[in-house]
Amino acid sequence: MRSAVVDTVFADPPFNLGKDYKNGYDKVEHAEYIAWCREWILESCRVLKPGGAFFVYATPELAVQFATILGERLEFRHWISLTMKGTYPRGKRLYPAHYALLYYSRGSPRVFNRLRLPIETCRHCGREIKDYGGHRDKMNPEGVNLTDFWTDTSPNRHSKFKVRPGVNELKLIIPERAVLISTEPGDIVFDPFGGGGATYQAAEKHDRHWIGTELYDSAHIRKRIRENYPFSAACRPQFHFEKLFTHEDKQHEVLRGSEGESMQARTGTRFP
Ligand SMILES: C[S@@+](CC[C@H](N)C(=O)[O-])C[C@H]1O[C@@H](n2cnc3c(N)ncnc32)[C@H](O)[C@@H]1O
Repeated sequence: MRSAVVDTVFADPPFNLGKDYKNGYDKVEHAEYIAWCREWILESCRVLKPGGAFFVYATPELAVQFATILGERLEFRHWISLTMKGTYPRGKRLYPAHYALLYYSRGSPRVFNRLRLPIETCRHCGREIKDYGGHRDKMNPEGVNLTDFWTDTSPNRHSKFKVRPGVNELKLIIPERAVLISTEPGDIVFDPFGGGGATYQAAEKHDRHWIGTELYDSAHIRKRIRENYPFSAACRPQFHFEKLFTHEDKQHEVLRGSEGESMQARTGTRFP
């Protein structure tokens, strides 16, 4: 990819916990893992436009290490805490109850959309839960400001909700918020760790373009996009590839997925 071409990077990397992603990457010496993370983080910074945003989802332990790398190129904006249910303490540790979503920007952010959440109501009676210190009447009818503490983001662990078996998929709302905060329709989102394709669905849902990579295979991602956005899935990609990628002579190769038919066969489009 060329430098400074994407508006937002969203990354949910493997955490080196020995998980079997069928690609042999998720258990190496810690130093080797961090060296690899340094490479993809700096490369992702390189492809980010000035004013672009970089989100990284990680355990707090990894997040502090990623933060020092991100800080070499970008400005810190937020450590967003996401409550995490169903984890367990290892060794002499406290009970882990949150993950971090680091949010950095390349210089001053070009886009910052303030998101609002609906005012909370009781699941049973439908009435509002808080009285907002007696100032309810002065509240914005569109809801309360999103904070850096998210409590509605625990993943669906049941396999029937998962797009790709065996992969820790994020709830759509996580990349969706990142996309909505930091981009406008037509902008480009890049996620280097596709997994089940949550980020790509979030981008599609809100009319953003996206670029993705996935080491394992992209069949689940393709299926997800095809099922949810059949029109987009059948469309010819809209970019001038020479503006985004070098090696234009390899376009055809790049566009052909590791599995499934080629982009050319699917769209009837010819890439020189
Ligand atoms: C935690 S999952 C991402 C899940 C994704 N955010 C979602 O919600 O569906 C990490 C993914 O990174 C992929 N991966 C690992 N190493 C990679 C690499 N070098 N390049 C591209 N993808 C890689 C793994 O196969 C796995 O699917």
